[in-house]
Amino acid sequence: MTKEKILVTGGAGYIGSHTVVELVQAGYEPVIVDNFSNSEESALEGIAAILGRSVPCHRIDCTDTAALRRVFEQEQNIQGVIHFAAYKAVGESVAEPLKYYHNNVGSLVALLQVMEEVGVTNLVFSSSCTVYGIPDKLPVTEETPVQKANSPYGNTKKMCEEVLTDLANSGKSSIKATALRYFNPIGAHPSAKIGELPLGVPNNLVPFITQTAVGMREQLTVFGDDYDTSDGTCIRDYIHVVDLAKAHVVAVERLLQGKARAIEFFNVGTGTGNTVLEAIKAFEKASGQKLNYKVGPRRVGDVPKIYADVSVATEELGFKTTSTLEEAMKSAWDWQLSLQKEKK
Ligand code: NAD
Ligand code: WQD
Repeated sequence: MTKEKILVTGGAGYIGSHTVVELVQAGYEPVIVDNFSNSEESALEGIAAILGRSVPCHRIDCTDTAALRRVFEQEQNIQGVIHFAAYKAVGESVAEPLKYYHNNVGSLVALLQVMEEVGVTNLVFSSSCTVYGIPDKLPVTEETPVQKANSPYGNTKKMCEEVLTDLANSGKSSIKATALRYFNPIGAHPSAKIGELPLGVPNNLVPFITQTAVGMREQLTVFGDDYDTSDGTCIRDYIHVVDLAKAHVVAVERLLQGKARAIEFFNVGTGTGNTVLEAIKAFEKASGQKLNYKVGPRRVGDVPKIYADVSVATEELGFKTTSTLEEAMKSAWDWQLSLQKEKK
C-alpha cells in the first residue's frame, strides 16, 4: 500500500519531531522542512533512533516561496502538509514584532501560495489557545470569541487563522485547512530520544522545572499566588506532547478521507485545568525530586485561567488524550536526564 507523503514544516522542532514519529508509526511518509532557526540537527538523529530509519529533511526557510516550490517539485505526490514552522517566544515577539509577523504570517502565506500552484489541498495548521486571550467563560469552546491577542506572537496566530478563513470564504481555493488550537504541550517521547530543547533560559514552566530539579537553575519562581483559583496560582491545560502529536495524525487522516470542511478549528487539550502548584506536585511525585521554588510576583500578560472544552475534537476528530499530568511530567524528567547524560 503506498504511504501517503506528508510535508511537515518545522518538523525538527518540539511538536513537529514528535508528530513525525507518530506519522511514520501510523503508516505515513513524512518529509521534514526546517531551517533549524530554533532546533538542532540532533532532533533528526533522535527521530531516526526511535524509528530505526531517517526521515528526509529539506533545510529551507518557509518564507522563501521559490525554495518551497522546489521542495514540492522534488517531493512528488505530497498529499498533505502540517505547518508547524513559526517563532513562538511571546516575550521576544514584543521586542521584535516584525520578525514574528514576517516569519509566522509570511511562511503561512508562502506555503498557501505554493500549495495552490501545485494543487496540494490538505493543510493542518498549528494554532494556539493564545487566540482566546483572557476568556470570560471556562472551559473555552471553539466558539469562544477570539480576543485581541496579548502579544505580537498571539496576534500572528490570530492573523493566520484569519488568512485561512478568508481563503476558505473566497470560494476560489480548493485548500482545506484544519487549525488545531494547542493548549500547553509538555513532556517528551517516552524513549527520551526527542523532547523540548529550550535555547537559553526557558520561558515555559515545565522546562524550567526540570532544569531546576537537575541543578541547572537555582530555583523556580511561581509567578503569583493571588489569582482567583483553588491555590492562588494560574490554571492551564497541560497536554502530553505525544497526545498532541497523535491529534495531528487524526487530523491528517480526516483531511485525506475528504471529511474535512474548508476551514475548521479544534481545541486540542486534555479538557482539565491544573494550577501551577498542582503541576509542581505532579512533577515531584513523578520524578521523586523535591523542587526548590518560591512564590514571586505575577508575570505581566499571564492569563489567570484557561483550559479547553474538548467535546468538538472528541466528537468530530474522534480524538481524546490518554496521558496523565504525572506521566507527562515523568517523560519531561527522563528527557532532562538524558540531556544531562549527553553533556557528560
Ligand atoms: P519549535 O520552535 O520547537 O519548532 C518550530 C520549528 O520550526 C523549529 O524547528 C524551527 O527551526 C522551525 N522554523 C521556524 N521558522 C521557520 C521557517 N521560516 N522555515 C523553516 N523552519 C522554520 O516550536 P514548537 O513548540 O514545536 O511549536 C510548533 C508550532 O506550534 C508553532 O507554530 C507554535 O507557534 C505552535 N504552538 C506551540 C505551543 C507550545 O507551547 N510549544 C503552543 C501552541 C502553539
Ligand atoms: C505556564 C504557567 C506561568 C514559568 C505560553 C505561551 C503560549 C503557548 C504556550 C505558544 C503560567 C507559570 C511559568 C515560570 C511560572 N506558546 N510559570 N514560573 O504562559 O501558559 O503559554 O506557552 O503558542 O502562547 O504564552 O505557558 O509555560 O510560560 O506558563 O510560575 O518560571 O506557569 O505563570 O501560569 P503559558 P508557560
